[in-house]
Amino acid sequence: MDTDVIIDIGDTHVGHRLAVTPPRGFVLDGGTVCRPNPIQAAINEAWARFCQRVRDVTKGKSYTLIHKGDVVEGVHHRASDALSINMTDQQLNAIDVLKELAADAAEVYFCRGTPAHAGQDSCFEEFVAQAVGAIPNGAGQYTRQVLDLRWNGLAIHAAHHIGTTGVHGGKATAPMAELAELRATAGQWGLRAPDIVTRGHRHDAVVVGTPSRRGMAWAIATPGWQGKTGFAYKIRGGRVGQLHVGGGIHEFRGGRFLPWVESYAIAPELPVEGGEDEQE
Ligand SMILES: [Fe+2]
Ligand SMILES: [Fe+2]
Repeated sequence: MDTDVIIDIGDTHVGHRLAVTPPRGFVLDGGTVCRPNPIQAAINEAWARFCQRVRDVTKGKSYTLIHKGDVVEGVHHRASDALSINMTDQQLNAIDVLKELAADAAEVYFCRGTPAHAGQDSCFEEFVAQAVGAIPNGAGQYTRQVLDLRWNGLAIHAAHHIGTTGVHGGKATAPMAELAELRATAGQWGLRAPDIVTRGHRHDAVVVGTPSRRGMAWAIATPGWQGKTGFAYKIRGGRVGQLHVGGGIHEFRGGRFLPWVESYAIAPELPVEGGEDEQE
């Protein structure tokens, strides 16, 4: 459907103790509420700002919501930092987080996340996607590996995975390479090259544009909605990078695709220890 705006999000990881929750907290089976910790409270505040921004930008307009996977945290790698390993808990809370954004959307699409989080065959994500009204693909799946979407005459290629980097100067490399590879494949086999490539997974934002015969083509990565896990600290970009959350609000206006990724810094993660810095 040719809507006016694409809301381009992913990596909500609901169920992790540093990820977005419903406003009052993460609700366990039986009604116990795990109130948000300070990082979650900051991420929830950012989520509320993002949703308000969506309402402001889309006032009187229609939008397509794309969730690119890692909807829930899942149960993985013997990790002990989920609020609940009852997947029904994680799924119901994810539905609660996403329901307003999905209800106001003209259409909703889901991609499949990393199996460690999403479950094999995205089994933890299918239920969430169906519950918030996602459109199934031709095989009856409510989540798919790749969303190849036609929108206002443009070809959008959305999927979960993309390479990450610990180097600021290299942040555009993997998304740009993805666009370049898709262009090469399209030329090789006579397929349509995408105008917009968007990815999640790496929880880090970048937007890079490059000329094309339709004006510009774009390679985009969107942040997630989760604080830094122990796994994030194992890689340089995760360890030393600024934690930020957010999502894309891309408009089609005046015949042009106008990409935008709303990003909110979540800081400080913890106060300094051993005394305050002197004012400079
Ligand atoms: Fe993720
Ligand atoms: Fe992922």
